[in-house]
Amino acid sequence: MEINNQQFEIQGVPLLGLAKEYGTPLYVYDGQKILDQVQKLKQAFSTVNLKIKYATKALSNLSILKLMKKAGTGVDAVSIEEVLLCLHAGFDSAEIMYTPNCVSFDEIQHAVDLGVMINIDNIPMLEHFGSVYGGTVPICIRLNPHILAGGNAKISVGHIDSKFGISILQLKHILKIVEAHQLKVTGLHVHTGSDILDAEVFLKGAEILFDAAIAFKDLTFLDFGGGFKVAYKIGDIATDIMEVGEKVSAAFKNFCDNYGRDLEIWFEPGKFLVSECGYLLVNANVIKATPASTFVGVDSGLNHLIRPMMYDAYHGVENISRIEGPERIYTIVGYICETDTIAADRKLKEVKEGDILAIKNAGAYGFSMASNYNSRLRPAEVLILNGQHYLIRERETFDDILKHQVVLDL
Ligand code: LLP
Repeated sequence: MEINNQQFEIQGVPLLGLAKEYGTPLYVYDGQKILDQVQKLKQAFSTVNLKIKYATKALSNLSILKLMKKAGTGVDAVSIEEVLLCLHAGFDSAEIMYTPNCVSFDEIQHAVDLGVMINIDNIPMLEHFGSVYGGTVPICIRLNPHILAGGNAKISVGHIDSKFGISILQLKHILKIVEAHQLKVTGLHVHTGSDILDAEVFLKGAEILFDAAIAFKDLTFLDFGGGFKVAYKIGDIATDIMEVGEKVSAAFKNFCDNYGRDLEIWFEPGKFLVSECGYLLVNANVIKATPASTFVGVDSGLNHLIRPMMYDAYHGVENISRIEGPERIYTIVGYICETDTIAADRKLKEVKEGDILAIKNAGAYGFSMASNYNSRLRPAEVLILNGQHYLIRERETFDDILKHQVVLDL
């Protein structure tokens, strides 16, 4: 988003025009930003055989998935529905990795039938898989590296008490099952969490993966998960992707020499690829001055962007209706029947009723975590690509709220 010709624009498309044309609340995505992020990642790992498996859960709109496909990524899916979405978007089953947690074996079988690789998450599933498929279907195994890292407790998933993956301390048990069923393990996986800043965390994960990997003979790839931290506010430090690329690639090449074979290196970023591309445009419904603060009440809330409430996440806010003029401090809140503060104590250009605010970094885990709480409709989504804007999801209507309800004749 940039100011050009006295207005906020993306690729020359004025954002206020989009709010007018499609209404608010509105999710807007800058497709070029997504393509740039894919390129950055490719560049950071240009000396190794990188495969990007975009974390579908971050933003699963079909047109975004198609854009990823066009940019040359594969995908990581966490539910059978995400697997189906990815197939629907045109991904080949071989490009899809299915990383489930606590799902039924029926769902695993469904994914196998679709030709998708399974990332096995627990010992009972490994046993079950072995007894049904033996070595006929290649698998990946998700290891829990016992690394405590990530932006907050809810998104730190690689520590010893986490429900994800199989403990590296259970490696012997894994190997026994692999041996007993002659399982074909072509990949190993770790994912420590989200919002990981330090290259050293990725290196630590890599070392653990390398130590385990040497015991497996059929590997073709190692998967380092996602978790690169992006900047949410001015002055925030983001993961230095070039540094991670350089350090992890060097360690990876070294491992491949020891292993005696060139492997693929996989990453599954969500935020890195789609966080910064997204804006949630909202309308200032009410400006409410109280003895304590001045609230701007907008036509959205935790039903559309839950991150501030769920993780105390910071999202930048801009009053895109005003380029010049005085600034004031505001607390931006939603219209939900709970204290759904989107952003507290922010300096914005003076907000008038009917102004449009842009909430930044709303691409990742924005729409994909949206709900119909308070029986509100979920927003429309618009993609800007090559200087054009495209509606990629219609705004819900009241029929969507009624849909699937079975009304009793009382
Ligand atoms: N791979 C696996 C196995 C994951 O569980 C995740 C995220 C990713 C990759 C992508 O992580 P990323 O690059 O986006 O950090 N809703 C939370 C984030 C939850 C992340 C869950 N797993 C948030 O809005 O902060």
